[in-house]
Amino acid sequence: MGFFDFLTEEIAIDLGTANTLIIHNDKVVVDSPSIVARDRNSGKIIAVGKEAAMMQGKTHENIKTIRPLKDGVIADFDASEKMISMFIKEIPALKKKLFTPSLRMVICIPSGITEVEMRAVKESAERVNGKEVFLIHEPMAAAIGIGVDIMQPKGNMIVDIGGGTTEIAVIALGGIVCDKSVKIAGDVFTNDIIYYMRTQHNLYVGERTAEKIKIQIGAATEDLEVPPEEMSVQGRDLLTGKPKQVQISFREIAKALDKSILRIEDAVMETLSQTPPELAADIYNTGIYLAGGGSMLRGLDKRLSQKTDLPVYIAEDPLRAVVRGTGITLKNLERYKSVINK
Ligand SMILES: Nc1ncnc2c1ncn2[C@@H]1O[C@H](COP(=O)(O)OP(=O)(O)OP(=O)(O)O)[C@@H](O)[C@H]1O
Ligand SMILES: [Mg+2]
Repeated sequence: MGFFDFLTEEIAIDLGTANTLIIHNDKVVVDSPSIVARDRNSGKIIAVGKEAAMMQGKTHENIKTIRPLKDGVIADFDASEKMISMFIKEIPALKKKLFTPSLRMVICIPSGITEVEMRAVKESAERVNGKEVFLIHEPMAAAIGIGVDIMQPKGNMIVDIGGGTTEIAVIALGGIVCDKSVKIAGDVFTNDIIYYMRTQHNLYVGERTAEKIKIQIGAATEDLEVPPEEMSVQGRDLLTGKPKQVQISFREIAKALDKSILRIEDAVMETLSQTPPELAADIYNTGIYLAGGGSMLRGLDKRLSQKTDLPVYIAEDPLRAVVRGTGITLKNLERYKSVINK
């Protein structure tokens, strides 16, 4: 421990396409949508997180809402840096400090990220006062967060279905043995619903409404044990231009999402087929672990289980598995030094 260590604070960040989570002192202190609202005239950020999310789809010409991450990677560096820096400033324990503390941080990154993108994330973190910045691959963090012992000579398969990407990885001996990342996840499901409503019901709905439909009655299969009730959906009639309401059943949403789920199934099958036989034997016994918000789609676990003939388990609190694992890594940097990139 160095002399100035009392000035250093430790944080773990899951910078996701849909949600950003931060752990400080073992507690989740930030859990907010990855959205910023910017004033077009002054260029100033006027809101981030939940506040900015409320403005989404309801802005006038002077305000613009931006999602700085796309497909799991940073698309707008300026907006994402400002967003992170505002989130960090809002951490209650840091707000009270006289000096801006320097930060030791662990940030998770998608498994498919390039070297250049990785360096960019690191530089970005350094600009928000990160003195020591470590990166960890998302599926690895998810596995640690789920409670899998990743250091064992035993194969485990993790499927993290987030907002922007679905990351599939087979992990053993503290490393990713094979992986696949597809840009089909929660955001695509939401867009599938928008498209379905437009083409089948002539109803124009926004992103927030479509996401609500997905969460309330969304399904990956029509074969559900506890089907959700029908839902009334309001939007704009594309023919008359008038506001209108229709009743939607989960079966319709299952149809709307079918093609995207198929692509996730294919990616899982492909990763399984590339898994070395000894590890495949392990996975036969342990099954597949799901994490990420997308894994909460009704019946997705059942559908993946039927497709692969393997048991499928959803992580406890799937939206927080990755940040939990990132937090555990931060506290045990020595133990996990082989899985982090300095
Ligand atoms: N109950 C639910 N059913 C279906 N989808 C859900 C549910 N709850 C949240 N989601 C979806 O989960 C997604 C967000 O998940 P998560 O926070 O894991 O993504 P992320 O980590 O931000 O994205 P990524 O890892 O791709 O960068 C959103 O698309 C959201 O709509
Ligand atoms: Mg994620």
